[in-house]
Amino acid sequence: PYKIIIDTDPGQDDAVAILLALASPEDVEVLGITAVAGNAPLPWTEKNARRVCELAGRPDVKVYAGCDRPMVRLLHTAPEVHGDTGLDGPVLPEPTMPLQAQHAVDFIIETVMREEPGTVTLCPLGPLTNVARALVKEPAISARLRQIVLMGGAQMEGGNSTPCAEFNIYVDPHAADIVFKSGVPIVMFPLDVTHQVLTARRHMDRIQAVGNRVAQATYEMLDFYQRYDEHKYGTDGGPLHDPCVIAWLIRPGIFEGKTVNVEIETGSPLTTGQTVIDRWNTTGRPRNATVMLKADSDAFFDLLVERLKRFG
Ligand code: BDR
Ligand code: CA
Repeated sequence: PYKIIIDTDPGQDDAVAILLALASPEDVEVLGITAVAGNAPLPWTEKNARRVCELAGRPDVKVYAGCDRPMVRLLHTAPEVHGDTGLDGPVLPEPTMPLQAQHAVDFIIETVMREEPGTVTLCPLGPLTNVARALVKEPAISARLRQIVLMGGAQMEGGNSTPCAEFNIYVDPHAADIVFKSGVPIVMFPLDVTHQVLTARRHMDRIQAVGNRVAQATYEMLDFYQRYDEHKYGTDGGPLHDPCVIAWLIRPGIFEGKTVNVEIETGSPLTTGQTVIDRWNTTGRPRNATVMLKADSDAFFDLLVERLKRFG
């Protein structure tokens, strides 16, 4: 299995990504979960990460709190999408499992320096603040990481925070810039692909039919989460962004992409947070990221439903 660290700002779609990972021990070994400020402030995201672990019956998973604000900009959250708690929808109890004392950035560094070189995969599902801070604090991790598989960015699809910028990159573009310049191989899931994975009614019915407690909570999370997109854009369901990252580690054939150069805009008032994707290699700059562009949404939901059935 891939050894992974999930860096996250739960977030209903983050929560589903965590559940998918914890249900798939033969494919991914979760070394730890690091929380970052994003969809909600850090006190919520770290608590939500623990709530989700307990929901999965895994209070043994180590959860670390990281950065409570972006590197340069002020924190911008998304209560209109995720609710004030970041995880509105199901009623989940206060977590009783502990938050680890170590800072998330130090956990990332220590883990990558301890494990065999080329074995640890980082899975960022929120703003890239923790990951960038780790790369700055201990540059030696960049050569030791296997890869970074992240959700963020947009090209043809346009942004969801501004016309050009997707939320995770928009919240901390300076961190994203550091990550994309780090030399670590990147696999990126932009809105172009995640908007193909919608929680359509037929998929929601299958999730609810699973019938166990985790599937029911997943249904309630997504039922809340999809309202934003359904009301705003009239779609059948909301985009399941973050679980694409974990699904790719389990079944890469669900997705298709292209390896290209990606740079991050950090300076322009108009386009800050844009992922400038050189799809046709117009610049000749090094190809630093595999950008996913297509998803087989039925195959994705087959996998999710199959894994949700594993929870007792
Ligand atoms: C990303 O932003 C958050 O709202 C989601 O959790 C996802 O990581 C999508 O733009
Ligand atoms: Ca997220």
